[in-house]
Amino acid sequence: MDAEQFRRAGYQVIDWIADYRTQIADLPVAPAASPSDVRDAVDGLLGAPTDIASLLDALDERVVPYQVHTQHPRHAGWFPSNASLSSVLGDLAGAGLGTLGISWASAPALTELELAVTSWLRDEAGLDGQWQGSIADTASTCALAAMIVARERATAGASGEHGLAATGQRLRVYASGEAHSSIVKAVVLAGLGRQNLVPIRQDPASRGMDVAALAEAVAADRAAGFVPAAIVATIGTTATTAIDPIAPIVEFARGQDIYVHVDAALAGAALLLPEMRSIADGVDGADSLCWNPHKWMGTVLDTSLMYWHNVAEVEAVMSTDPSYLASKTDGSVVQLRDWGIPLGRRFRALRLLFQLRLDGLDEIRGRLRRDLAHARRLAELIASEPHWQVVAPTTLQTVVAVYGPSGPGADAATRAWVAAVNDSGRAHLTTAEVDGRLVVRVSLGVLSTEWDDVAAIWDAMREAAAREGSTSG
Ligand SMILES: Cc1ncc(COP(=O)(O)O)c(C=O)c1O
Repeated sequence: MDAEQFRRAGYQVIDWIADYRTQIADLPVAPAASPSDVRDAVDGLLGAPTDIASLLDALDERVVPYQVHTQHPRHAGWFPSNASLSSVLGDLAGAGLGTLGISWASAPALTELELAVTSWLRDEAGLDGQWQGSIADTASTCALAAMIVARERATAGASGEHGLAATGQRLRVYASGEAHSSIVKAVVLAGLGRQNLVPIRQDPASRGMDVAALAEAVAADRAAGFVPAAIVATIGTTATTAIDPIAPIVEFARGQDIYVHVDAALAGAALLLPEMRSIADGVDGADSLCWNPHKWMGTVLDTSLMYWHNVAEVEAVMSTDPSYLASKTDGSVVQLRDWGIPLGRRFRALRLLFQLRLDGLDEIRGRLRRDLAHARRLAELIASEPHWQVVAPTTLQTVVAVYGPSGPGADAATRAWVAAVNDSGRAHLTTAEVDGRLVVRVSLGVLSTEWDDVAAIWDAMREAAAREGSTSG
């Protein structure tokens, strides 16, 4: 494809995306298709070269009907994975430039813009100026990088030099029982051992980590010869958006010389709102902080911000300096490859730049406030309805609820009515297990979700639960 062909095809692709977004509210939110239906559909996409119009027609026939429409205004499953069209354009611009982001010398503007945009967002989120950020793909990668740096700190670099086994140390990591599965994976991949991730009891009311229980676990581990290496505190857990109390965690960790990583994957966006910043009180005392603009804030996947308080420590772990990457600017510029795991990086900063310059922070903040108000209003409606219960504090944009009594058959009933909602195509919801019971999470915050959509989601829930949610059936 040459540039002129690209120009003509590109207009058609942009039209296709705009049409999709314009018509999305009329589609069922999720497909009612079996895995083999989807496999058969996508198999039909393969074949000989064709033109763009035929290819887009094929996508309409073989991809769109088999998608969960995450950008649909009545999508309330998992978490909002917003792809603002401004950031989609930034993504396209970045891909179009085709930059080789492997060093400052290979990508000067990419590097400096990434530093500038992450600093801009840091300041707008009220974080202190010591944090230095870069953009990673996902929170999972950020957590892995954090666990590796924590491991090196705990072993004074000996693990990186000789391997953890040679140090003879048994490191421990602590997180609330509601920490995301990516933390488990990070602990495993950093070589620390799944058994060394210690789940800490949560406060029954707030659901945040119980710091007294943390202190007890650390003391018991020290007595048993373990080395407490890291605490992962979550602001906004996946199941219930619980908030771990960062200030006392950080204070405790400082006294014990334990690394603190803060996972604010979803909730980081809320820090853009001054009135919400108390959820992260004390965060400036942590060692690393990750938040995902690709969730609620609305930047297209995959755009994760990773902030470090001491990048020199990170560089000491991550830097390798091969001769084939040497350049005359070495020593006077930042090499982003030394702030994380990958060498080559995409021009992700353009997605953020486009969103921030084309939509602007006022639009983003207004939308976040709208979603918080929607969640509070929905929680009130649910709590006032017979047989319904809100089972976790509605701190952010997610309402966690159950229908009917707990006991035998309760989870099967929940599964049945949630499946009925999803199969109807009227809304899309997901569940999680909380305190041994399956709950439904109504995770609001899609860009186009207005109150009428929330009301329609709630109608679909009530109707399906009344029909399918009985434990006796
Ligand atoms: C609290 C939390 N942390 C981490 C993640 C992992 O995010 P990513 O897909 O960016 O790795 C999620 C995703 O749901 C999350 O909710």
